[in-house]
Amino acid sequence: MRGLTLEPSSPDRWREVRGTLRRLLAEGADPAGLFADGAQGSLLEPAPAGQRFPTPRFPRGWQGPFRRVAHHRDPDSLRLLYRLLHRHQTEKGLPERALDPDVRELVARDAAVRRDAHKAKAFVRFREVAPDTFAAWHRPDHHVLPLVAGFFARRFGDRPFAIFTPDATLHVREGELTWAPGAPRSAVPDADGLDDLWRTYYRATFNPARTNLKAMRAEMPAKHWSTLPETRDLRALVAEAPARVAAMAARAERQPTVADVLPERRSLETLREAAPACRACPLHGPATQVVFGEGPADARVVLVGEQPGDQEDRRGRPFVGPAGSLLREVMASVGLPPGETYLTNSVKHFRFRGKRRIHDRPRAGEVQACRPWLHAELELVKPEVLVLLGATATRSLLGSRVKFRDVRGKVVATPFAPHTVVTVHPSAILRAEDGATLKESLSSALALARSLLSPSICRAATKW
Ligand code: URA
Repeated sequence: MRGLTLEPSSPDRWREVRGTLRRLLAEGADPAGLFADGAQGSLLEPAPAGQRFPTPRFPRGWQGPFRRVAHHRDPDSLRLLYRLLHRHQTEKGLPERALDPDVRELVARDAAVRRDAHKAKAFVRFREVAPDTFAAWHRPDHHVLPLVAGFFARRFGDRPFAIFTPDATLHVREGELTWAPGAPRSAVPDADGLDDLWRTYYRATFNPARTNLKAMRAEMPAKHWSTLPETRDLRALVAEAPARVAAMAARAERQPTVADVLPERRSLETLREAAPACRACPLHGPATQVVFGEGPADARVVLVGEQPGDQEDRRGRPFVGPAGSLLREVMASVGLPPGETYLTNSVKHFRFRGKRRIHDRPRAGEVQACRPWLHAELELVKPEVLVLLGATATRSLLGSRVKFRDVRGKVVATPFAPHTVVTVHPSAILRAEDGATLKESLSSALALARSLLSPSICRAATKW
C-alpha cells in the first residue's frame, strides 16, 4: 500500500497533492478504495484496480478550488478531490452540477479555506521582537499559511518577519521565504508598542451604534482574540456603547448654530473674535480659517459677495484674490472709496471642490447656516447702500423665491439698508466670454450705488 503523507503546512502542498492525484489517475486507483488517515493527514491507497487515465482532464474552473481545498485540514478532503477528478474523466458536465453532493462539498470546503485565509490576513498582528524585526503568532483553522505567504511577503517584505502557527512557521527576510516547523503561542512575546497602536486605532474606529455581538463574533472568531490586542478593550467598548449612542443622538438632534457662539455684546470686533468658533456648517473643517468682513464700522456702503476663494482662505481677508482685484478696480473707477466701504461675504468659509483648492459654490444649507453672521454685520454697520454681488448674496438676503435675473441691475427694498442694489459678481466677469459687458454692468451698478449716497461721501470720494 502506498500513500501520500503531507507535511502539515508544506509550502508545496498543492504541487504534492496535484502530483499524487495525477499519478493515482494514471494508475487507475479506485476512489472508493482510497482511505484517509486522519491521524497522519495522509491519503492511503490500496493496489490500483480500475480504468487508467494517463492524460487526465482537469476543468479550468476547478484550479482555484482544488488548490484551496488541498489546504483544508480534514484529510478526507484529499479523497474528495480524487473522487471528483476521477468522476470528471467519465461524467460530462460534472463541474456545472451544483447540486451534486461532491461538488457541493467542494464548494463548501473551498469557502471554509477562503474564509480562513481572509481571517489570517485580517488578524495576524505583528510585534516588534527585535529592533525592526517582527513576529506574529496565529492559529488558523486550516493549513492556509502557504496560501497567504505571498500576501504577507509583498506587504511587509521590506523588513524581516516571521509568522508562527501551530503547524508551520514562515520566515521572510529580504524577499526570501523559508519554512520551519510550527511553534506554540509562547514563541512570540506578548506585548509591545504596536499593541497600543492597534488598540487606539480600534477604539477610534469602533462604532457604538453598530454593536452587533453576533456579527462581531462571526467576523472576529473568539479563538483569535488572544492574539488581537484590540479585543482587550472590546468588553468596555460594548458596555459603554448604549451611553455613547444616546449621547450621539442627543448631539445630532441639536445641530450647532451661529447662535451658540454669537457674542452678547455685539461689535464688529467681538463678532470677528467669535466667528472662528462657529460650527454651524461643515465648511469650518477643511477651510484654513474664517474670513470675516472687513471695513469701517460706520461704512455707508456694504458689498456682499458669495464666499471667500482660495486666496482669501489663505490670507483670511475678503476679496484679495483675482475677483477682489477686479472689484476694487471697478470701485475705484466709479469713485467708491474702499476706506468707506465694508466688504463681506454670504458664507464665511472657503468651500473646497473635493480635496482640491478650487472654489465650489456654497450649498443652500451653508448659506442659511451662515446668514446670522451677515445679519449681525448689517445690523451693526447700518449701511446707506447695500450692494448684493451675484446670486448667492441675493438669495441669502432676499430669499430663495427672488430670482437673481429678475432683480439684477435694480434697486430693491430690504430691511437692511435704505437702498439695496443687485448686480453681477466680479467672478462672473472673470469667467464670462463677454466679460466687458458684464464689467460694464458692475460698473453701472456701483456708480448707481455711489449716486445713492449722500453728498458728503461723494465729496470725499472725489479726492480719491
Ligand atoms: N468671491 C467672493 O464672493 N468673495 C471673496 O471674498 C472672494 C471672491
